[in-house]
Amino acid sequence: MNDASKTIALLNNRVSVRSYKNTPVPEELIDQVLKAAFRAPTSSNIQTYSVIIVQDPVLRKQLAAVAGGQPHVEKAPVFLAFCADLTRLEYALAKNGHTLVDNNLEVGLVASIDAALVGMSTYLAAGSVGLKGVMIGALRNDAVATARILGLPSQVYCVFGMCLGFPDEVPPQKPRMDYSTMVHYERFGALRDNRDTGTSLDDYDAALEAHYKNIGVPTTPDSWTHDMDSKFSPQLREGLREQLKQQGFDFR
Ligand SMILES: Cc1cc2nc3c(=O)[nH]c(=O)nc-3n(C[C@H](O)[C@H](O)[C@H](O)COP(=O)(O)O)c2cc1C
Repeated sequence: MNDASKTIALLNNRVSVRSYKNTPVPEELIDQVLKAAFRAPTSSNIQTYSVIIVQDPVLRKQLAAVAGGQPHVEKAPVFLAFCADLTRLEYALAKNGHTLVDNNLEVGLVASIDAALVGMSTYLAAGSVGLKGVMIGALRNDAVATARILGLPSQVYCVFGMCLGFPDEVPPQKPRMDYSTMVHYERFGALRDNRDTGTSLDDYDAALEAHYKNIGVPTTPDSWTHDMDSKFSPQLREGLREQLKQQGFDFR
């Protein structure tokens, strides 16, 4: 086997980490990581993201409450909020007599993708200097409350947060679905080994069940399909569309 690049090795070993040493993370290291992450590609050079570094324990406590009481949101040495931010784009349009008020799905989507690309780049750059962590989508449990806590103006919303720190645990990796069922050739459905998607999901249910059993987390024999159904068959975050509209994102 050839030696994988350091980046490939980092990704191959990646796992979400939710417990951190108390060791403080130097501010310059975070700046270095974020500056590298800001080299991520950005649609039409639009740069519609902002990152908020949140250290204030009071704000952290409030964010943790929005996130359903996740302790790592309060305790992680570093907490970053990755925001879709249309304010600079609005400036460019306003200068030319236009506005983004009543913006459509494309603008909201592009800004959210921008924030996600910068978020993943941050996660990867942080990982390369020994900082591990977890993304926090649960801040969208109440997008307006999160905006209030972070002082976000109209046309900015928090897409997700991120806890980072030097790791105090090495969690076993959660298995992923089989590579051959995720990669298609030329057209969708043309899989290399012609495996039926349903069958491979049965295999994945079994692999995930074994993983959860191994770490003592209760599960069912149809682990993944069961969890996904319980989580996504009720409409998740029903109020989100209206909350994002309040924040100046129409998504229409
Ligand atoms: C956008 C996004 C939001 C997430 N939100 C949360 C979260 O709120 N809390 C949490 O503990 N993990 C969160 N995660 C982590 C996922 O649960 C985790 O990546 C997934 O279960 C796979 O596990 P792994 O990262 O260890 O491979 C989030 C991940 C992503 C990409």
